[in-house]
Amino acid sequence: MSGRIFLPIAVITLGLAACERQLPTGGLLAKAGGSSLGRSLTGLKTDERQLFDRGSAVFATVFTPETGLGPLFNAASCAECHEDPVAGAVGDEVEVHATSFQGAVCSDLSAVGGPVIQQFVTPALHNALGIDKEPVPALATATAMRTTPSILGFGLLDAVPEAEILARADPNDVNGDGISGRPNMTADGHVGRFGRKAQVATLREFTAAAFVMEMGITNPESAVEQTVGGNPLPAGVDPTPEPELSQADLDAADAFVRFLAPPAPPGITVERAASRQLFTQIGCAGCHVPALTTGPNPVKVLSNQSVPAFTDLLLHDMGPTLADICLGQALPAEFRTEPLMGLRFKSAFLHDGRATTVEQAIDFHGGEAQASRDRFAGLPAGERAAIVRFLRGL
Ligand code: HEC
Ligand code: HEC
Repeated sequence: MSGRIFLPIAVITLGLAACERQLPTGGLLAKAGGSSLGRSLTGLKTDERQLFDRGSAVFATVFTPETGLGPLFNAASCAECHEDPVAGAVGDEVEVHATSFQGAVCSDLSAVGGPVIQQFVTPALHNALGIDKEPVPALATATAMRTTPSILGFGLLDAVPEAEILARADPNDVNGDGISGRPNMTADGHVGRFGRKAQVATLREFTAAAFVMEMGITNPESAVEQTVGGNPLPAGVDPTPEPELSQADLDAADAFVRFLAPPAPPGITVERAASRQLFTQIGCAGCHVPALTTGPNPVKVLSNQSVPAFTDLLLHDMGPTLADICLGQALPAEFRTEPLMGLRFKSAFLHDGRATTVEQAIDFHGGEAQASRDRFAGLPAGERAAIVRFLRGL
């Protein structure tokens, strides 16, 4: 999995190959469970549908230095990373993030090139500075590896009201269940929900920032190029005028991400129902809440929907073994409950892909999740296997 941590040059050709590969085939659809895979939510209005289709092309656009790529970047298109088995799903790219946590103060190091440490530079920046990737800022106190998650169905998570998330927060563990989730409140007072540390409040902000952080594509809502160590970019290395993406293309990409349908829910069988109940009984659902509900939304298909994402979107202390960087209010050991929706696509688990099986991923749960992890470990082998089969179907 981590075998392909950014192989220079080859990556762009691989990206193109990946675009061809993502055309759904009968076999893939059968494996992944349903014809909605990679498509939009059903019932979009005509203008929403058109924006989704246009956004699908923006998401797949392979940028070059001539069309704005870089000068620092991780990949040449969104679909180069979120690609398997369809655009918007998982990928084998593993990113490097770095932040600083000193005296209980967290800095995302955005002033000196963080928190995303780009692993490629354009030829022009290479010639000007003699670097092949962005150096980790000297101020960083920790780095983190991040695998590429599936974002299918995430428009529904974006549409969950803040009050619904906050209602499950229990920072002082008043109910005494050992689980004390808390929101990662953003600087402007919103509930963070996207990113492994729930550091970003809205899908739109994440998308706008991803263009710059991943591809060096400035846009009207994320207008500043990434720098090397916070220094001005050398003259001539970024010849394309900002913004490199139009408002219309950003709106379309946002619509594409927002309207992507979640993976089709697996059918209910007696075994699955029993496993789901066991999952709840041993305390997994204390964080991996089986479903959240969206609020009223101007987009009808996002309105008042159940989202079977298996997350509470809150931060939990997962213990010292998993700890890496801070981000916003999230401490090094705190992570957002990873949505299990889309687990069927994964072959590496946890934020850095360190677990190669679902059982291993569960075994790594510590901190607030220790008690449920121990209950899982204490189950007979057959019941453990049934829970894993249940999760692999999500
Ligand atoms: C180099 C690979 C790469 C590229 C290119 C990329 N992403 Fe991602 N994406 C990631 C990784 C890694 C994460 C996890 C980040 C984290 O955990 O903080 C992520 C997370 C996300 C999330 C949040 C998912 C979550 O779990 O909350 C969204 C939304 C997203 N990406 C959208 C996009 C869009 C839109 C583009 C193109 C503009 C894009 N990504 C380009 C690798 C990539
Ligand atoms: C205290 C909250 C909490 C509890 C309880 C909990 N989890 Fe998790 N779970 C998390 C968090 C947070 C992550 C992400 C950790 C990371 O990426 O390092 C996660 C990740 C996972 C993953 C990996 C997902 C992926 O996409 O890589 C699986 C599988 C999982 N949990 C299953 C379970 C099962 C089964 C149980 C019950 C035995 C359980 N969890 C209990 C919070 C919890």
